[in-house]
Amino acid sequence: MNPIETLSRVGKEVSACTQCELHFSRKHAVPGEGPADAEIVFIGEGPGFHENEQGRPFVGAAGKFLEELLAKIGMKREQVFITNVVKCRPPGNRDPKPEEVETCVSCYLERQLQAINPKVIVTLGRYSMGYFVPNVKIGDVHGQSFRVRGKLVIPMYHPAAALHQGSLKPILENDFARLPELIGKAALAPEAIDNNPPQQQEPPKQLSLF
Ligand code: URA
Repeated sequence: MNPIETLSRVGKEVSACTQCELHFSRKHAVPGEGPADAEIVFIGEGPGFHENEQGRPFVGAAGKFLEELLAKIGMKREQVFITNVVKCRPPGNRDPKPEEVETCVSCYLERQLQAINPKVIVTLGRYSMGYFVPNVKIGDVHGQSFRVRGKLVIPMYHPAAALHQGSLKPILENDFARLPELIGKAALAPEAIDNNPPQQQEPPKQLSLF
């Protein structure tokens, strides 16, 4: 199966999925969207109200802000793949349960990532970060590069968090501003990636090797 076929197959399976209790309350499952050859995959937490209504990821206020962040680095959402760790809306916007994340990621997200084989994975918020880079605080590691099973993973704040807490906005913008450069460096050895660019003015940090 080629990547387009795999993504289409995964999308159909997600839409019919009954693997966890989230399927009882969903209106539409949200597999994710974007080109099969995307260089960047953005991974959020889970569908919210609007995503559940439309079956598409990041179509509410957080999605609008994500599009603005992309525009600032000269990119459009159509160029990137956007998805979530859980594909169905947790009722009342509760946090996804660990077992829901585990099931959904192993059944679907892993296959999506394998098909797309992106240069860079950007996790948006704590839940997707926790899957790739466990036991760290987002305040400590946002914008840094981690090599996880051969992939460059960059944790960032969730756009919705920045909408609620204005002080996070420039931090997220600054982390986004470094993305083009990091895409270019994704194929390089981990030591070649500078996690401590001058404009960040943060103490030196180490690139983790998994
Ligand atoms: N928040 C997320 O984490 N994902 C979406 O798709 C929308 C909002």
